[in-house]
Amino acid sequence: MKAIVVSDIAPAGDFSRVYIEEQALPAPGAGQVRVRMLYAPINPSDFNFIHGTYHDGFERLIWNYGHDTLTMDPQRTQPLAAVPYTIGGEGVGVVEAAGGGFLAKRLLGKRVSIAVGPPAGTWREYAIADAIRAVVLPASVSDEQAAMFFVNPVSVYVMLKHVLKVKPGTRLLITAAGSAIGKAVTRLSTVFGYQCICVVRGSSNSDALRGLGAHAVIETNTQNLQAEVHRVTAGRGVDYALDCVGGTLAGDALRCMALNGHFLSYGTLAGRPTELHQRDIMHPLVRVEGFFVPNWLLQQNKLTLIRTLRAVKKLVARGYFDVDVDRVFDFSRVHDALAAADARDRTGKIMLRFS
Ligand SMILES: NC(=O)c1ccc[n+]([C@@H]2O[C@H](COP(=O)([O-])OP(=O)(O)OC[C@H]3O[C@@H](n4cnc5c(N)ncnc54)[C@H](OP(=O)(O)O)[C@@H]3O)[C@@H](O)[C@H]2O)c1
Repeated sequence: MKAIVVSDIAPAGDFSRVYIEEQALPAPGAGQVRVRMLYAPINPSDFNFIHGTYHDGFERLIWNYGHDTLTMDPQRTQPLAAVPYTIGGEGVGVVEAAGGGFLAKRLLGKRVSIAVGPPAGTWREYAIADAIRAVVLPASVSDEQAAMFFVNPVSVYVMLKHVLKVKPGTRLLITAAGSAIGKAVTRLSTVFGYQCICVVRGSSNSDALRGLGAHAVIETNTQNLQAEVHRVTAGRGVDYALDCVGGTLAGDALRCMALNGHFLSYGTLAGRPTELHQRDIMHPLVRVEGFFVPNWLLQQNKLTLIRTLRAVKKLVARGYFDVDVDRVFDFSRVHDALAAADARDRTGKIMLRFS
């Protein structure tokens, strides 16, 4: 079978270390299933594995100080894959072999959404997943949407309900609002009752965001962020900010916070650290917090995990996490697909098709 492999870390925009190789058909172990992959999205986290963003980030942490192998958690239970590895963080496929155990056997022939990452990720014709973590979604959810069940829907739900604990009648600002996460947060404002202020750097997604329920859309290529937030909140500022960009934009967003605001940092799309002036967080008593879904999930008990997955599943089935798909590429064209995913002004996800 064929798999998409990263041989070495390369700088941003360079995909020359990504290639397709022939691998042996993987055998599922006890409690595991082999999934014939149908679709997988290209997410920003896949670029992090191509360009070494995770490696650089985890290498700086205290719990990795002096260690040759990096882990994502301080308990050292989650090793960070080292190149070469097969990438892809999630996807959908059909279970065609079970490695033993009731759960695994029950999934034979079923379509499942899975989330497994490097070193043995989902960008291959057949992937291995733990049966307990393979989710069967209703047939009404399309294959493409089912491929994107895990990473973003779970992150959005957890950030809104568990971390920020958003309250109705509040104001929430989100940067890179044209992203899949931005659109889900905007759509959910109509369920959870906050006003969503969408920040984008161009106009390609502005009308779509208004259609999803945005209270305001601010285009930073032509508009001043603070002036616009002042205008649309009648000078009060925002209670919450969700930022996945960093750089100067995150610094500007911090200066839009209301008293006791809560700022959540969950991405590094600008590739530069947030410009943080201490007084911008001191004077308005802003709480600045980080979020990384694998480490949040690791800390939860089984009941919270089951309840969270159940809630996300319901919202997925009702279409609240529907993601626009910009283009679908056969996986043999992975370089074209990566270039398309890396381009500005996309209006949806780029997907890889495996069969
Ligand atoms: N911390 C976690 O656990 C976690 C979990 C899931 C996702 N995430 C993060 O969430 C973010 C969004 O993910 P996604 O899958 O929703 O993204 P996506 O659908 O692939 O969209 C990415 C968006 O980012 C915008 N963008 C890229 N670089 C930018 C920059 N320098 N300044 C402003 N906007 C920029 C693009 O806007 P244009 O249209 O202007 O090009 C595009 O709309 C990513 O950073 C991802 O890593 C984090």
